[in-house]
Amino acid sequence: MKTNLSIIILAAGQGTRMKSNTPKVLHKISGYEMLYYSIKEAKKLSDDVSVVLYHQASWVQQTMEKYFNDVTYHIQDHQNFPGTGGAVMGIKPKYSKTLVLNGDMPLIEAGELTNLVGNSKLTMSVLNLKNANGYGRVVVLNGAVRKIVEQKDCSDEELKINIANAGIYCFDTEFLLANLPKLTNNNNQKEYYITDLVEMAIEQNLEVIPVSVSEENFKGVNSKVDLANAEVIHQHRIKERFLANGVIMRLPETIYIESRVTIEGECILENGVTLLGKTKIINSHIKANSIVEDSLIEDSDIGPMARIRPQSILKDTHIGNFVEVKKGKLTGVKAGHLSYLGDCVIDSGSNIGAGTITCNYDGKNKYQTIIGKNVFVGSDTQLVAPLNIPDDVMIAAGTTVTKDVQSGDLVLSRTPQKMISKFFYKFFGAK
Ligand code: UD1
Ligand code: MG
Repeated sequence: MKTNLSIIILAAGQGTRMKSNTPKVLHKISGYEMLYYSIKEAKKLSDDVSVVLYHQASWVQQTMEKYFNDVTYHIQDHQNFPGTGGAVMGIKPKYSKTLVLNGDMPLIEAGELTNLVGNSKLTMSVLNLKNANGYGRVVVLNGAVRKIVEQKDCSDEELKINIANAGIYCFDTEFLLANLPKLTNNNNQKEYYITDLVEMAIEQNLEVIPVSVSEENFKGVNSKVDLANAEVIHQHRIKERFLANGVIMRLPETIYIESRVTIEGECILENGVTLLGKTKIINSHIKANSIVEDSLIEDSDIGPMARIRPQSILKDTHIGNFVEVKKGKLTGVKAGHLSYLGDCVIDSGSNIGAGTITCNYDGKNKYQTIIGKNVFVGSDTQLVAPLNIPDDVMIAAGTTVTKDVQSGDLVLSRTPQKMISKFFYKFFGAK
């Protein structure tokens, strides 16, 4: 759906109210930085997307370049031309219409943005609010914008206006380029306001069309409170999508699912489940309070209270409570309780007893444990990697395995049990 549209995303502001050293637009929502979402939606509408940066520009640019390779970055001359108008200066949009978005609006959706693209020289997004505090105010008469004024420049009367500027505009590109050089910083903030272009259009007798947009989608994130609220809405959208696709969720509001997660087939997610990164769940049951990160879970049940760390692949496997798996490839395995299975491959029919630990780290390097088919690992076993246990091996409870073994072996490393007769009575006295 590429139109004759160029898009400019404003992301140069400092974001002081976030109270953070991390640039505002790099704060994450559902696993992606906020700016990611603005660029992603913009790219659905245009192949000419420019992002305006200034504060910590290279940090922001490098982060976005991980995801997008066809976006233009533009550094604002912030010292000489601060403000939303200054941000747009110096950009040469390719197409006849230019949509200006904000990088701190992670909930906007491409579909709704198309409503702003019309034939007039200028269309602007407005919100009809109960209380427009914090926003610039817009005077609308007979379906056209008559005046726009920033909150900090409002008279007492103007402060009562409840039509707010949502901060997104679609300009006729010729109009934009002809009028940008006329902007001044003659206002309380000594900034070059993009909103002054609205005033100029009105003065030039051009119709400025207000387009009402949804408050939820156009919410700007300016503080950590806004960030948390936006993430709640975003999470709600992700979970609605999976629920509609047939995933069962117990208490969905307690479940956290990042944007990259995919879920297929018949799945159950119990309360408190956290699915992170590029996790994929297929026909599986994830029980209460389990965490899965960057892993594939197929035809398996996990938890409650299990932690599956990155690069694990679990198929046809049962993982019980307090089991941690990291870089583990388990197929047809049962690990019911209290284990650490890191850097390992475990094959079908093998049973991992409670308290099993793959000792994968010697203080310098990580090593792998490979366990074949039908291996019975007794409780409280330490498997000191690198280690290769072939098919059909039995490891007795309490064993520390340090050497490779043969198929058919029983492996046992226990101090023989001693009994000292009557010791109890000598120590505690006779009862
Ligand atoms: C702006 C509007 C206001 C509107 C509100 C909606 C102006 C003058 N005011 O105010 O009418 O109600 O948005 O959210 O435009 N930015 C830059 N360079 C700068 C300054 C800002 O790129 O020099 C970017 C910011 O990173 C942000 C966006 O522009 O993404 C909006 O800036 P912000 O400071 O949040 O504007 P508001 O004061 O909220
Ligand atoms: Mg703002």
